[in-house]
Amino acid sequence: MPEIDFPKGFVWGCATASYQIEGAWDEDGKGESIWDRFSHTPGNIKNGDTGDVACDHYHRYQQDVALMKELGLKGYRFSISWPRIFPEGKGQVNQKGLDFYDRLVDELLAAGITPFPTLYHWDLPQALQDQGGWANRDTAQHFADYCAAVVDHLGDRVKDWMIFNEPWVFTVMGYMTGRHAPGIHDPAMALRATHIVNLAQGLAVRAVRATGKADAVGTAFSMTGVYPASESAADRAAAERLHRFNNLWFLDTVLNGRYPEAYVEGVPLERMDVRPEDMDIVKAPLDFVGINLYSRTVVADDPQDRNLGVRIVRVPDAERTDFDTEVYPEAIHQAIMRIWNDYRLPIYVTENGCSYGDGPDDDGTVNDDRRVDFYHRYVGQVARAMRDGADVRGYYAWSLLDNFEWAEGYSQRFGLVYVDYPTQRRIIKKSGYWYRDLIAANRLQ
Ligand code: FCB
Repeated sequence: MPEIDFPKGFVWGCATASYQIEGAWDEDGKGESIWDRFSHTPGNIKNGDTGDVACDHYHRYQQDVALMKELGLKGYRFSISWPRIFPEGKGQVNQKGLDFYDRLVDELLAAGITPFPTLYHWDLPQALQDQGGWANRDTAQHFADYCAAVVDHLGDRVKDWMIFNEPWVFTVMGYMTGRHAPGIHDPAMALRATHIVNLAQGLAVRAVRATGKADAVGTAFSMTGVYPASESAADRAAAERLHRFNNLWFLDTVLNGRYPEAYVEGVPLERMDVRPEDMDIVKAPLDFVGINLYSRTVVADDPQDRNLGVRIVRVPDAERTDFDTEVYPEAIHQAIMRIWNDYRLPIYVTENGCSYGDGPDDDGTVNDDRRVDFYHRYVGQVARAMRDGADVRGYYAWSLLDNFEWAEGYSQRFGLVYVDYPTQRRIIKKSGYWYRDLIAANRLQ
């Protein structure tokens, strides 16, 4: 591959999330979140791990910002923990919670790093879950109120915001498969929850804009490159349905105020409890699209499946990460081009990365060559999409640090920086140095 220069001002960053790194789960007035409850319930998380301490970032944020500076990051995507700000999800603001994000933002700005926060990365206040969580319509308005409070407070220094991280994942995994908090296994409830989350997104976008302090508002959507298992018309149609459900269920809705035609028998609006005036609330055009992408999905038509009519096909002998996801760099080019061609909005790659378990060698260095190779090839495909005309403004690697990987606990390592959990020592991996050099040159060698 020839060398590729990135445009001046391209934002190179890293992404993290509150529950995955902060720890301090019950400090300074923070309320319990659904992930606290879920991880404290035996059997939910591999090895019984919890985020109680995680990377102890709550106490070590200065050291972590210094690491970001050493890597030369231009931007940092992190998330705000709702129960730190409103321990009960609503009502009185917990000032100490806001203070933490004040300190973090100030530290970032002093280091010349642009803060790029997400308002919800899955840690719903447990008090709201006790009233039904995302299956309760009232949650939508509480969420918008919380967003407004945070943006109003940090908005003098923070200009660009994301509403949600991966609404598809936290509704499907949280309410359908039950693999994630709150651990509910109820497909009908899951479908209703997706609609309430869409309502919340619409309300929140308006609430954030109403503060008058935000320049740009988006969401980070989970996406996968969708490929048909064969060239047959049936498989291609199945791939299109999966794209609409996986990638567009929360994007087409917020931009266009309608649900994409993903279901074989039409969108089940009644089962979702979509009311006449709802779609006007749901529609709240975003300023940019955040794409989180790790892999691809291969799908075949399946008439047995009455919902989407699809069957996921596992590709034999594919290259895989330690998390068993397929390494398929071209998927990021495909997804970016599709979203760019269909919506013409600025795009940020808000997450991309890989899990490999490499730890320190005898000499203390972490030589994660597979991760270097992964990033090299995926970033190359992002550059290719830009050459093909897509307006990509930035790229955020997942993740800065090894961290709490949800149901997998600490068994999956995604960091550019290794974390030795017992000592909380950080070691920049080979991939971290590679990323530093990429950023410094602003060029892919
Ligand atoms: C994404 C999540 C993020 C992280 C990565 C590996 O789905 O947004 O928190 O767990 O996967």
